[in-house]
Amino acid sequence: MTSIRNIMILTGAGVSAESGIDTFRDSGGLWEKHRVEDVATPEAFARDPELVLRFYDMRRAAIQTKQPNAAHAALARLEAEWPERVPGGTVTLVTQNVDDLHDRAGSRNLIHMHGEHLNAWCTACDERVPWRAPLLDRPACPACGVPALRPDIVWFGEMPYRMEDIYGALREADLFVSIGTSGAVYPAAGLVRGARDVGARTLELNLEPSQGSAWFDEARHGPATQVVPAWVEEMLSGG
Ligand code: APR
Repeated sequence: MTSIRNIMILTGAGVSAESGIDTFRDSGGLWEKHRVEDVATPEAFARDPELVLRFYDMRRAAIQTKQPNAAHAALARLEAEWPERVPGGTVTLVTQNVDDLHDRAGSRNLIHMHGEHLNAWCTACDERVPWRAPLLDRPACPACGVPALRPDIVWFGEMPYRMEDIYGALREADLFVSIGTSGAVYPAAGLVRGARDVGARTLELNLEPSQGSAWFDEARHGPATQVVPAWVEEMLSGG
């Protein structure tokens, strides 16, 4: 492991599952209870904005009652302590999650590629503003005053955020680690192949083999609160 300098980590809903936030595609997951086409596309928002806003108001309220778990904490610790172990070494955390549990655990070099529940995006003036309250009652945008706020969530058919930064960090990565994601949604699911193309080692940490498992050099299966802290400990102790 000593040749590893820059680490890129991709997380998905599985990292927050043990904090009590539903995943999407597991049994009992969100997409079993709601149709993607009804709540998570720009077309759904145009057709029935109240249904979409009610769904995200519920989710936004729910995540504010949840706490980061041992996996979030371990990843924040890795970012803080890795440069002590490997001078100049970096940890970039790319998350598909729209909760703020990585932020609250202390991760700083963090990219929310699918947006954030605790932001609203004004479709009139294009400002993004921190937002914790409901959007259903169509509040005015704090920046321009127009009641045109929508959830700052990347819906199906929209472009994920900061892809240039993500590919930039991927090009520098010596190790790519995918945690708690089914590998069902692109472009996130394709990052492992990009990592292989630049010669990075690839590791999957997930409850079970993901759809992309075959692309990884190594896979460790188990709950994130166990496998992630164990892996971080190994990295920091030079294992
Ligand atoms: N520990 C580790 N992994 C877990 C745990 C756990 N406790 N619980 C579930 N998992 C794994 C599941 O086995 C599954 O492979 O997490 C993965 C969750 O997969 P999805 O529900 O598909 O979530 P994700 O991969 O984040 O979805 C990607 O899809 O709907 C969109 O935009 C949404 O960002 C989301 C994207």
